[in-house]
Amino acid sequence: MLIATAGNGSSADSAPSPSLPGPASTAPSAVPAPRSGEAARHWWRDAVIYQVYVRSFLDTTGDGIGDLAGVRTGLPYLKKLGVDGIWLSPFYPSPQHDHGYDVADYRDVDPVYGDLAEFDRLVADAHRLGLKVLLDIVPNHCSSEHPWFRAALKDGPGSPARSLFHFADGRGPDGELPPNNWRAMFGGPAWSRVEEDGAAAGQWYLHMFTPEQPDLNWRNPAVAADFEDVLRFWLDRGVDGFRIDVAAGLFKHPELPDSPDPAADERTRDSVNPLAWNQPEVHGVWREWRALCEEYTARDGRDRLLVGEVSVRTPAEQAAYVRPDELHQAFFFHLLTARWDVATFRRVISEALTDIADTGSTVTWVLNNHDQVRTVTRYATDPGHTTEGLGSGLGPARARAAALLMLALPGAAYVYQGEELGLPEVVDLPDEALTDPIFHRTGSREHIRDGCRVPLPWSGLASPFGFTSGTDAARPWLPQPDWFAEHATDRALADTRSFWHLYREGLHLRRSLPQLGEGTLRWLDSPPQVLAFVRGDGLVCAVNFGTEPVAAPAPGIPLLASGDCPAGILPGSTAAWWMHAPDAR
Ligand code: GLC
Repeated sequence: MLIATAGNGSSADSAPSPSLPGPASTAPSAVPAPRSGEAARHWWRDAVIYQVYVRSFLDTTGDGIGDLAGVRTGLPYLKKLGVDGIWLSPFYPSPQHDHGYDVADYRDVDPVYGDLAEFDRLVADAHRLGLKVLLDIVPNHCSSEHPWFRAALKDGPGSPARSLFHFADGRGPDGELPPNNWRAMFGGPAWSRVEEDGAAAGQWYLHMFTPEQPDLNWRNPAVAADFEDVLRFWLDRGVDGFRIDVAAGLFKHPELPDSPDPAADERTRDSVNPLAWNQPEVHGVWREWRALCEEYTARDGRDRLLVGEVSVRTPAEQAAYVRPDELHQAFFFHLLTARWDVATFRRVISEALTDIADTGSTVTWVLNNHDQVRTVTRYATDPGHTTEGLGSGLGPARARAAALLMLALPGAAYVYQGEELGLPEVVDLPDEALTDPIFHRTGSREHIRDGCRVPLPWSGLASPFGFTSGTDAARPWLPQPDWFAEHATDRALADTRSFWHLYREGLHLRRSLPQLGEGTLRWLDSPPQVLAFVRGDGLVCAVNFGTEPVAAPAPGIPLLASGDCPAGILPGSTAAWWMHAPDAR
């Protein structure tokens, strides 16, 4: 045990910590000078990137839909928050069947979001502020409106255009059955049948998501060649990298055989069909893309970043994607999916640190994104337990504690817009407002994603809360509940105890303290419901997963806490950081 627990007769007793009054407390006196060698570091290894869901960030045109000019307007806000860069959700021309993850043209901007000139202004402004810009690239599938797919429909069976996708004849006497038994992630069969010459009895094509998102055939070299060109198009416009959608996809088993458990993808909403995901050939693509990034770095010295949405079963499988010549980062979803439980958190964090960090990459932590129920709501109940007895403040308290934990872990982190406002999920959107294809294809509310995509509240007491303006402004594309007023950014900025100030102070400490970001983590002995570790030469982070207070596990200088901490105490559902006093080590 490195640091004695307060109350056991150790130095902690003789040097009780001053109390931690929550996020309003900063301890600038304890903050050393900025890290040395900053310029030599690879910025992405411990960067904190803010995910902008463009559609819901800020609307400058009054159509009720966020846009690139809105993102540009919000850059100073993000700079003040203290993130290192932004990831923009897809803004390409798209019929929006899956809000831009159905791309009709990979080299342009959908007019609803702006145009290429606006994009260029956004990149220039971001760079002036020192913020990186990542784009979302969608290589597993395109839109059924993409010219390639239109040509494939028109040109018919056996045509070169069809070979860019997975077209196949059906089974059964008249080909009326799909070519295999795979199910789509968003419900229904993974195959749709097309018309040939006006007759319905045509071939089938594969789509692992919706029928409007046909899967590309990466065994056709023309697909890889076109994506290389797309990457160059955006790299030449100055972007700093890409978030890669469905990065364990792309290749399918060459024979497209039946799946042993066809319903698994649909049931779990996870890429578990071993014939459709995580095929060995995909690693070759990431090696090519990494080499392309290195080519640009060799020209101008600027690191480019590839971060993959790699949904695979185990951290060990994920590690293969971040080998030194593949992706720089892969979101570590095992933390995001962990229930609020000390043993689970400790296990997944340990697995990440051994499996991922061993590759030479750093772990990329994430708690929220545009596909998941927000932490404030997710942590409000304990799965498998009744909610009886759980206080209503539990979700926010745990979400705040989780944020401090994430920001204290070694590696990089991603923050999803609204997370810094403590936005809860909007769980009661009316059915007629729901746009997520999962809802429409399954009729199920269980996994729908609209509730975390409701447009951000910026100011005021009533919808649209400054999200969209103008006298004729349309209503936000998803309705904002009245209680969004409590979370509006103007209120958050004015209240030093808000989520916003917690994130801001955490991010600023993270930037100035050499112990945070990349580096070592050592677990500390602690009471059973507490996770405690030391970073570098003495920054201690402790999280109390229980509901009862415990003695604070570390003496030292208090830096930041997710809630009020009386001296020497770590209350339930609270995290805190201390700078360890040298004589207590
Ligand atoms: C990824 C995206 C999700 C999208 C899906 C299909 O999982 O995060 O929003 O629906 O891919 O592109």
